[in-house]
Amino acid sequence: MRPRVSLAAVLIGAGAWALAGAPSSAGAADAGAGAAVFAAKQCVRCHVPRSEQGPGPALEEIRRPQGAMELAGRLWNHVPAMAGMLAQRGFEWPSISASEMADLMAYLQGDALRDARPDLYKGQVTLLRKNCLKCHSLRGEGGRVEPDLAERRGDYESAFAWAAAMWTHTPRMAAMASSVGVAYPRFSGDEMGNLVGFLREATAAPLRGSGGAPKR
Ligand code: HEC
Ligand code: HEC
Repeated sequence: MRPRVSLAAVLIGAGAWALAGAPSSAGAADAGAGAAVFAAKQCVRCHVPRSEQGPGPALEEIRRPQGAMELAGRLWNHVPAMAGMLAQRGFEWPSISASEMADLMAYLQGDALRDARPDLYKGQVTLLRKNCLKCHSLRGEGGRVEPDLAERRGDYESAFAWAAAMWTHTPRMAAMASSVGVAYPRFSGDEMGNLVGFLREATAAPLRGSGGAPKR
């Protein structure tokens, strides 16, 4: 299996980012409502102020100025440990809608304006290195697990849309990763922003300057 997306096409598409402008902070997101989400979704069980000592990192550590995509990456990393701890204690996985996620991320001080502009080349490398295409295809190239990543364009539109979609799906992904022997991918720094930026460009149809879908 050797997935290949036309890199030239994607790099030409990179200009679109500049035209559309960098993302703004989620407009309607409300940090106060996010504090309520943080309580309602069980986060407060494990993340309490430093003075109180909880089972997870202190609230001050997870709630600090950071990029929104950077925070999405940290939430992604967190899924297997949190799913395991919740299951042990007999709690259900809390569902989080896209608008709740926007508020939650505002509360945790994830700000799209702090994310670097995505590096599409690094994003493509990240897609390959993190084993996404061992399970999924991108426009038909790659693994067989649904969905093809080109079918989920809406997921790539903002950090909170992405984080909300991944919040729903990563527990199943994590379970499958261990059963098929693929390492659960982890993200740091700008990796998530680059990856999602790449997916956003690579799935914009038709690709600018490529005359249609990427060559196979
Ligand atoms: C059952 C306990 C538990 C619950 C509930 C929980 N967490 Fe965590 N959280 C942890 C532990 C343990 C870690 C450190 C290990 C890790 O990163 O997975 C952590 C780490 C984190 C991190 C930092 C991850 C990183 O890589 O920097 C964030 C952000 C976070 N949690 C957010 C949340 C949010 C938001 C919720 C609620 C939707 C939540 N947590 C609910 C236990 C929990
Ligand atoms: C071990 C297999 C596996 C790996 C590796 C994997 N996924 Fe998935 N992914 C899944 C499964 C299974 C689902 C469907 C989950 C469900 O049905 O809820 C899924 C769902 C998705 C979805 C759809 C979410 C939606 O809106 O429905 C996206 C997007 C996605 N994965 C992206 C990725 C990316 C990006 C990577 C690499 C960083 C990745 N996946 C790695 C198994 C995997």
